[in-house]
Amino acid sequence: MADYKLGKLIIEGKTKKVYELANYPTLCLLESKDRITAGDGAKSHALEGKATISTSTNNKVFGLLNQAGVKTAFIKPAGPKAFIAKKCEMVPIEWVTRRQATGSFLKRHPGVPEGYRFNPPLQETFYKDDANHDPQWSDQQIISAGFHLSGIKITKDEVDIMKRTTLLVFEILEKAWAVRNCALIDMKIEFGVDADGEILVADIIDSDSWRLWPCGDKKLMKDKQVYRDLSNVTQQNLETVKCNFQWVEEQLDYVTQAPTPSVVILMGSPSDEAHCQEIAKHATALGLKAQLRVCSAHKGTEDTLNILAEYEGSGENVVLIAVAGRSNGLGPVLSGNTVLPVINSPPLRSDNIERSVWSSLDVPSGLGCTTVVHPEGAALAAAQIHAMHNHLVWARLRAKQLSNFVSLKRADVKLRKL
Ligand SMILES: Nc1ncnc2c1ncn2[C@@H]1O[C@H](COP(=O)(O)OP(=O)(O)OP(=O)(O)O)[C@@H](O)[C@H]1O
Ligand SMILES: [Mg+2]
Repeated sequence: MADYKLGKLIIEGKTKKVYELANYPTLCLLESKDRITAGDGAKSHALEGKATISTSTNNKVFGLLNQAGVKTAFIKPAGPKAFIAKKCEMVPIEWVTRRQATGSFLKRHPGVPEGYRFNPPLQETFYKDDANHDPQWSDQQIISAGFHLSGIKITKDEVDIMKRTTLLVFEILEKAWAVRNCALIDMKIEFGVDADGEILVADIIDSDSWRLWPCGDKKLMKDKQVYRDLSNVTQQNLETVKCNFQWVEEQLDYVTQAPTPSVVILMGSPSDEAHCQEIAKHATALGLKAQLRVCSAHKGTEDTLNILAEYEGSGENVVLIAVAGRSNGLGPVLSGNTVLPVINSPPLRSDNIERSVWSSLDVPSGLGCTTVVHPEGAALAAAQIHAMHNHLVWARLRAKQLSNFVSLKRADVKLRKL
């Protein structure tokens, strides 16, 4: 879609312009301005180069969210200062998540010390109304406002979905920033509803959207708070703000990447390939690299141990899934000879379910292999092990859990309306 033609200006805000795309009626182009503002626009300065930094920051953050499976409006970058997104009717609410108490929270809650930790993160919502300084709104106020956007009404169900999604976005970015030892203190996002009536994380996410404290130290803050705190704005301290934003944009290259971890699916017989392919399909969807091998612990013991040595020696983080029916020797033999995690996933046939499962469960003492029968479950178990050291896999698992939550909610709404 390099052929897009800029259409008319839909809206110009404080920091960006939104254009229609003449040949893509459901999309729009968001162009950043070289301007920094705070206090609902009361403080505002030109800052050359800010648009490019902000756009690149936004592209990297939304790239990470899209890759994890979060539903967002972001489509793709369009030059250094713009990106293409799904055109939305915007929900006029700022959705805030806080891990630690600071800033306006402290003023509204005297007595709570700065740094008070919220587990789970605290969620707050503010109605977007610059003239009245974005008043805080409850869920009930949002529901009672009865917003109708792109053919859908914002009811309790939609509010629940947006709150869960807000939490997911925060947690994904918090885990990602932890890779660079940076604490995500709080952040805000916005939602829009696209032409299909789908609720999407929209607007932009950049250094204006969060508080980010390297090493968890407020004095090292790298976000827009530095600008908000300036009593006397000089060219020199504007440059400091810009350098901080640039630093964040560069760090995001590390934050948005991680090696693709492996799951090796070993089958005792090629007749079990279909079961293994099913595990591989789910593992790949969760961001794992899946490899299939054939080896029998009973009939090819030496080969089995040699294959194991290959993965032991690879230096990679590998989870092994052993697929063997009847008497499962494969999983226990692997497990007794490695510290890599081993998951048994015996392919079950109706004539031998009890015996097949039993040989995977009742293993000799000294072995720590686990058993997960269903192929999707085995892939999920492998991904959960990898998620402990890989934030991208963690993000996909979390996004999948949200999508399960949304599907159940939608099904409930459908039946409720019958
Ligand atoms: N995908 C989208 N489709 C349509 N409009 C969008 C989209 N993403 C963001 N917008 C809107 O673009 C407008 C301009 O953005 P900008 O952030 O500059 O506005 P602003 O002056 O900060 O006002 P606001 O307080 O509403 O954010 C905002 O009203 C925002 O809601
Ligand atoms: Mg805005």
